[in-house]
Amino acid sequence: MNIAILGKGTVGSGVDQIISEQNTAFTNQLKVVSIFVRPEKVDGSPKLTADYASILNNPDIDLIVEVLGGIEPAHTMIIDALKHGKSVVTANKAVVARHIQEFTKIAAENQVKFYFESSVGGGIPWIINLERALRIDKIDSIHGIFNGTSNFILDQMTKTGAKFDEVLKEAQDLGYAEADPSADIDGYDIENKLCISTDIAYDTIVEPGDHLLKFGIRNITHNDIQYFKEHGWIVKLLGRSFLKNNRYTFVIEPTLYSPGQIEAGVHNNYNYVGLRGDTIGKLSFNGQGAGMLPTAHALVQDILDVYLKNDHLDRKFNQKLELNNETKIMDYIVRTKADLNHYLPDYELKQDGEYWFVKQINTKLIHETVQQIALTGDKPFLACINGGAENDRS
Ligand code: HSE
Repeated sequence: MNIAILGKGTVGSGVDQIISEQNTAFTNQLKVVSIFVRPEKVDGSPKLTADYASILNNPDIDLIVEVLGGIEPAHTMIIDALKHGKSVVTANKAVVARHIQEFTKIAAENQVKFYFESSVGGGIPWIINLERALRIDKIDSIHGIFNGTSNFILDQMTKTGAKFDEVLKEAQDLGYAEADPSADIDGYDIENKLCISTDIAYDTIVEPGDHLLKFGIRNITHNDIQYFKEHGWIVKLLGRSFLKNNRYTFVIEPTLYSPGQIEAGVHNNYNYVGLRGDTIGKLSFNGQGAGMLPTAHALVQDILDVYLKNDHLDRKFNQKLELNNETKIMDYIVRTKADLNHYLPDYELKQDGEYWFVKQINTKLIHETVQQIALTGDKPFLACINGGAENDRS
C-alpha cells in the first residue's frame, strides 16, 4: 500500500522510520512514497514535495497520514484527501475534536476510511478498545491521565524536586510537548482528547470551548507538591466525563491520589485512560501517551487496519445530551492568598496558611471561584481530592 505523509515533524518521521525499518509481514506491505512539507523544506530528496495536488492526483497513493497538527490547513487537506478517494489516518487531536462528524461522514460518502487512534493516548490502543467495548456495553464514564507532557512534569517535580520550567523544557526536548506547550499545561490538549473519547463513548458531539471546565498545572509550585506529599497525596492532571440520564459532566483538573492508587503510579510520559461499561465494569489502559515512536506505532496500526480492511465501529454522533457540571460534589484543596471565606461563605472551609480545604462543593462553583480569584492577580491552584471514577457520585 502506497502512503503519503503530511508533515515531517517528530511523529511524521516516526511513521517513516517504522515503515522503513520494522521488518514484519505487515509493515513490509507498506511504502511511504511521498512526504508533504513546506516549500522551504524541499531539499531535492526524492520523497519530499510541497505540491499537495501531486499527491491528491496520484492514483497510486491509497492513504494519507496527516500529522501537521492544528486546525487549518489540516482540516481542508483531510477533506480534500477523502474526496479524492484516499483514506486518512491522523494524530491531530485538535482537528479531530472539532470535525470528527464531518470527517466520518465524508469518508463514508467516498467509501474510504478515517481513523485517528493516535490522537488520544499516544501509543495506547484506546479508541479501538473503546469501540470494542461499545459493541456490547453502554459506557457511562471516561476518565484518565490524557497528557504525557503534564504527567512528565508532575512526576519529575514529585520525584526529583525539579523546577516546572526545567522539566517542561526536558519534555519539549524529548518530543512530548505540543508546538505551543500551553496546550499541555492548561488542559486544552486533554480537552481535545476527552472530547474525542466522549463523542465516541456517548455517540454525541462535545465541542471544545469555555463551557467545559478545565484547570491545568500552570500555577503549580514546588511547595504545592511538597504540601500534598506531607498529607500523603500525589497530584495528577485528570480528565473525566460521566453520563447519566442524557446529562453529562466534563471536567479537567488536578486530582490528589494516595500513593497506593493506580493513578499515582503512572510515571513519566505515560497515560492511563479508561472507561466504565455496564458489563465490563471499569477497564483501563496504560502506556506511553506521547513521543515519536509510540505515537507513530498507533498511526501505523491504523494504516494496517485500512490495508487489512479491519473496519472500525460506525458512529453517527447524533445523541443530543445536556452538559451539567453542577451535579458532582467533591472535596477540594485550594491554594490562594485570598480569603476564601469571602468567596464561599456558605461552605465548610478549613484554613492552613495559604491552603484551604473545601468540603463537598460542586465542581462548577469551585472552578468559577478560583478563576475569579485568578483575575485579582493571584496565581491560585486547585486540586480535587480523590476524584477517581470509583468515587463518582453524579
Ligand atoms: N503533547 C501531547 C502530550 C502529545 O504530551 O500528551 C501526545 O498527544
